[in-house]
Amino acid sequence: MTKRTRTVLITGASTGIGECAAHRLDRMGWRVFAGVRREEDGLRVAANASHRLRWVLLDVTDPVSITGAIEFIGREISPGGLDGLVNNAGIAVGSPLEFVDLNALRRQFEVNVFGLVAVTQAALPLLRTAKGRIVNIGSVSGRVAAPMVGPYSASKHAVEAISDVLRMELGPAGIETSLIEPGSVRTPIWEKGAHSFEEAQTTFPAEAFTRYQMHFNLMEKVVRRGQKHGIDPERVVDKILHALTSKRPRHRYLLGRDARIRLVLQSVLPRRWMDGLVQRMIRKHGTPAT
Ligand SMILES: NC(=O)c1ccc[n+]([C@@H]2O[C@H](COP(=O)([O-])OP(=O)(O)OC[C@H]3O[C@@H](n4cnc5c(N)ncnc54)[C@H](OP(=O)(O)O)[C@@H]3O)[C@@H](O)[C@H]2O)c1
Repeated sequence: MTKRTRTVLITGASTGIGECAAHRLDRMGWRVFAGVRREEDGLRVAANASHRLRWVLLDVTDPVSITGAIEFIGREISPGGLDGLVNNAGIAVGSPLEFVDLNALRRQFEVNVFGLVAVTQAALPLLRTAKGRIVNIGSVSGRVAAPMVGPYSASKHAVEAISDVLRMELGPAGIETSLIEPGSVRTPIWEKGAHSFEEAQTTFPAEAFTRYQMHFNLMEKVVRRGQKHGIDPERVVDKILHALTSKRPRHRYLLGRDARIRLVLQSVLPRRWMDGLVQRMIRKHGTPAT
């Protein structure tokens, strides 16, 4: 009997972790549906892949786009189902909460949280058919919050809860849910986040700069560090693969030295000490060299 080709939908596959995952799974013989928002991204991703890979236009914030993508996939794989859904699409909104534009905060949740749930709901009939698996890309920021990335942290905290609930609700139906929690990964998200932060700064009132200048300076350093020293996205893909294929997928995959350090510190230090450490970091790295 010939083995059935396994099928997976990856959201946000135009760049970074999603693109790497699409290409690796394709090389491993999976039938990959790569969700992208622009045709040119789809063509580029497909150009570096086998004939099996299909790109689909998928904006996770747009119900019409989600329905269209899932209907397309359903037709392509009929009568089979989806073996995997990788909820990877994400954006990073940075700002002090005092001055965050509420539309930007909503957008953060539209993509990282509501989009994830909407795609999962739409894909569930296909996942049920194959007893497929859900892999959510969270972040260590979903466990350890930090100043300036409140919107992102809050969205990833929500993804933690959603992943736990999906695992408990869908586990009895044979659908496993895993959550990947990387620290810094070298992907375009840093540049995109920095760009949107620069734009946001133009809307901040003058007092934002007097109150948060050290935070802004630190943020610039954190972005440069992430771009330079973040782990290779292929390491995240290793965990995605484990979650999709292993007999016993883990509930959570924490990865990266920075992620482990942050989590350990938060677990062992009293809250007041942890907050003090954060303030020390802001003073040390946020004060311009004289
Ligand atoms: N890089 C890190 O340090 C890091 C650490 C922990 C967790 N993560 C998480 O990893 C995931 C992937 O991020 P990445 O680092 O690989 O960054 P990335 O290269 O910027 O990839 C993000 C992907 O999400 C897509 N996307 C954004 N808005 C979307 C929408 N409305 N609908 C559908 N797709 C949308 C982007 O598409 P466009 O190109 O069209 O914008 C892109 O394909 C995210 O969930 C992120 O939070 C990243």
